[in-house]
Amino acid sequence: MPELAYVNGTFLPIEKAMVSVEDRGYQFGDAVYEVIVSYNGHPVFMDEHMARLHRSLKELSFPEISIDNIRATVMELFDRAKMERAEIYIQISRGVAPRNHSFPINAETQFIMTARKVAEVPENIRKQGAKAITVKDLRWGRCDIKTVQLLYNVLAKQKALDSGVFDAIFVSEDNIAREATSSNLFIVADGKLTTHPLTPDILPGITRAKVIEICVEQNLHVSEQFYNKETLLKSDEVFLTGTITEVLSIVKIDGFKIGNGKVGPIAKQLFDALRVRSKQKQANYKNESR
Ligand code: PDD
Repeated sequence: MPELAYVNGTFLPIEKAMVSVEDRGYQFGDAVYEVIVSYNGHPVFMDEHMARLHRSLKELSFPEISIDNIRATVMELFDRAKMERAEIYIQISRGVAPRNHSFPINAETQFIMTARKVAEVPENIRKQGAKAITVKDLRWGRCDIKTVQLLYNVLAKQKALDSGVFDAIFVSEDNIAREATSSNLFIVADGKLTTHPLTPDILPGITRAKVIEICVEQNLHVSEQFYNKETLLKSDEVFLTGTITEVLSIVKIDGFKIGNGKVGPIAKQLFDALRVRSKQKQANYKNESR
């Protein structure tokens, strides 16, 4: 099936999908987004993605939008795309208006989506683990809102690629390890897991929440606490969590080996459990919605 787009009510091929030059998402980064994937043709964790989208819109004082309508449109795009592993990108901007910093009066929110094949983590990186660098976290103070202003994330990811590694991990001015460019971060030491607490400094990742749930069910000790760069580097295991990364082991940071430099057993266990959960959730969703 061809990759598809949706622009304000119309489904069309991606290459034909256009937005105005005066879209505020384009001019100011005044837009929010979500990324949702499917397994075996069915989207996972829709409720959670819709709830986070709703929160992002509210935090930025967008006019009230029906989340039920958004959900129905997202489902229609998944159905039309007919892909086993689709990645749906949703973006809602404050509207189209002559460039002016203040909120436009009476502008209509712009709703676009694309459906493409999932940009999977390369198999060799999945098997051998990924390498990362640390970078100073110079992002804005509301990283908990999923906005499209991702320039610093883009620069950090490119710096990682230019350094021959997979990703960059943001470390704050006061040395706290935050998250990666499009994933949350966990460490394991003496069998205990730690991840950054939910503050405005990180995105409240849906995969992060699922991984915490799985840890609790599997009697793995997990806590939400700050940790610094030195603790990160001397962990037994480090891994990323995200809609695309799922659970991805990090085996080297800034050239230092993490643990024995191989994919760790806890990351492996959680990757497998998350896959099972994603497929279960998809089955539940199917039962609830059809
Ligand atoms: N990114 N942290 C950041 C900065 C992110 O951009 C993302 C997701 C996450 C993980 O969140 P979740 O588990 O809900 O996917 C954490 C998406 C996938 C992206 O920008 O493509």
